[in-house]
Amino acid sequence: MFYKPEDGHGLPHNPFKAIVIPRPIGWISTRAADGSDNLAPYSFFNAVANDPPQVMFASTGDKPDRDGTKDSVANIRETGVFCVNIVEYAMKDAMNRTSGPLERGVDEFDDAGIARAECQTIACSRVAGAPAALECKLTQIVQLPGEANFATFGEVTGVHLRDDCLTDGIFDVLRFNPLSRMGYRDYTVVREKFSLARPGE
Ligand SMILES: Cc1cc2nc3c(=O)[nH]c(=O)nc-3n(C[C@H](O)[C@H](O)[C@H](O)COP(=O)(O)O)c2cc1C
Repeated sequence: MFYKPEDGHGLPHNPFKAIVIPRPIGWISTRAADGSDNLAPYSFFNAVANDPPQVMFASTGDKPDRDGTKDSVANIRETGVFCVNIVEYAMKDAMNRTSGPLERGVDEFDDAGIARAECQTIACSRVAGAPAALECKLTQIVQLPGEANFATFGEVTGVHLRDDCLTDGIFDVLRFNPLSRMGYRDYTVVREKFSLARPGE
């Protein structure tokens, strides 16, 4: 089949997010100007540059108690920082709970019983037990076509790696089984890897 998004897909559910898979999950922690912490998962998330290291995530849609966006972007607008926490399979239920439509100011760390630690290079909390966390300073928020679509870019200013995930100097994903998002209600988990040398390597 072929369809143009503007004409509709004719399927029971929109397949778009099932096509671009698997998507890593950025579990984004932020702090509002009033000092309250926020935590939410975003799978429109990726690394976008190496030197200096940079990441992005995209927020789509808004909350009734926010002015045209969600809590994460609103907090980053206020403070200019955020932290990306990497989600392991064992954290899937806690991560999912933090995606609920909680009221502005409700602290998802408390709500989901997630231990927090203070970041080192930014004034923000991170998920204490995460396999990795990237402390980020906002570089730009880009408004995308459509209502309430924003891509938030940040430069990584601090990197946390959980000690048990390092094997002989390699950050070993098979030690923690990263969780990834697919379409519909589906997820996948990395339990297998192989290496491939690039031409000339
Ligand atoms: C695995 C997963 C991935 C998600 N990815 C996104 C995303 O990329 N963009 C988005 O706007 N919402 C995404 N959501 C929904 C948000 O997590 C949800 O709207 C949340 O309440 C936003 O929280 P906030 O208002 O505290 O930022 C995702 C939810 C889950 C469970």
